[in-house]
Amino acid sequence: MRRIFIILLALVIVLGGAAAIYFLRPIEGPVRDLSLTADVERGQYVMRLGGCVACHTDLKNDGALLAGGPPLKTPFGDFIAPNITSHPDAGIGDWSVEEFARAMSVGEGPGGKHYYPAFPYDNYTVMSDQDIVDLYAALMASSPVAEKAPDHNLGFPFNIRLAMLGWKNLFFEPRRFEPNPEKSALWNRGAYLAQGPAHCGACHTPRNILGASDTSQYFMGARGGTGGSFVPPITPESLKADGWDEATLTDALTGGFTPDFDTLGGSMGEVINESLVHWTEQDIQALVTYLLEGE
Ligand code: HEC
Ligand code: HEC
Repeated sequence: MRRIFIILLALVIVLGGAAAIYFLRPIEGPVRDLSLTADVERGQYVMRLGGCVACHTDLKNDGALLAGGPPLKTPFGDFIAPNITSHPDAGIGDWSVEEFARAMSVGEGPGGKHYYPAFPYDNYTVMSDQDIVDLYAALMASSPVAEKAPDHNLGFPFNIRLAMLGWKNLFFEPRRFEPNPEKSALWNRGAYLAQGPAHCGACHTPRNILGASDTSQYFMGARGGTGGSFVPPITPESLKADGWDEATLTDALTGGFTPDFDTLGGSMGEVINESLVHWTEQDIQALVTYLLEGE
């Protein structure tokens, strides 16, 4: 009896240790060339592609640009997108470009701080080296704001940050954008924008109970996205079934009317106002091409 107990105990310790090693193994990011020449103005455009302002600025309360967002309500609690201005203490002004690239592509901050996927690094990981370098330069050129944003308000066990390393080992893989050589340059640009900076799937792809995107249901719509609203599917089939075409999608995504003389609202309205209205005509065309053609 005693012997069996000891064997079982040993087994539990070995398996537990193996699980810990598995779940807590470090995540390596894509190798990036961060010595590229940075362009601040281009970086400000990448910021609009990425919707950074929408989450990191408390727009409703006239908060300072990038100084911290309103609470993002999720089933795990409220997240506050922090101050990412150039202030060295309250913001990220003392970060190196390497540290910034690691946060964007591996979801890990200085000192091994593992981020929650409420920060869509699962999408930003595919961003190009040039976009990362330019974006960094634009953030370093932003007006510093000396006040830190409030902390998240999360219940146990979601407030244990180290658990995010386990989460990443289960659900996250740093990766590069993979162009499809059979498709046009325009389609590929649209795919890059939708999968990477614009993170359309963060809301339009359903998540599992642990908050990870279910890629087998890519763009198939989700219940209770951020803000709790219903997020409709945006696969080519569903868009076409709803009567969308190139012209109507272009109108609606740039803040115009939908075919039934409504406008897209809720969190999509924010995506449009804080991001899509700033896009070049060509990038909108690329996005629409990718949406209607699909993978
Ligand atoms: C959907 C909302 C959302 C969007 C969009 C978003 N972020 Fe964030 N971001 C967050 C949240 C929430 C956190 C905090 C994550 C945590 O504490 O684990 C965060 C954290 C960060 C951090 C870490 C800051 C620190 O002090 O550790 C950086 C850097 C960052 N975001 C940059 C960006 C950039 C650049 C963009 C645009 C390309 C962006 N974010 C877009 C929600 C967002
Ligand atoms: C923060 C969450 C969020 C993000 C990010 C987001 N959407 Fe949406 N989207 C929504 C919501 C919510 C609606 C429903 C809006 C409404 O009904 O007024 C919507 C509606 C739409 C619609 C209308 C579909 C229909 O049949 O009515 C399209 C098209 C769309 N989104 C495309 C996109 C694209 C392309 C992206 C990436 C550039 C994107 N969305 C990013 C939340 C989001």
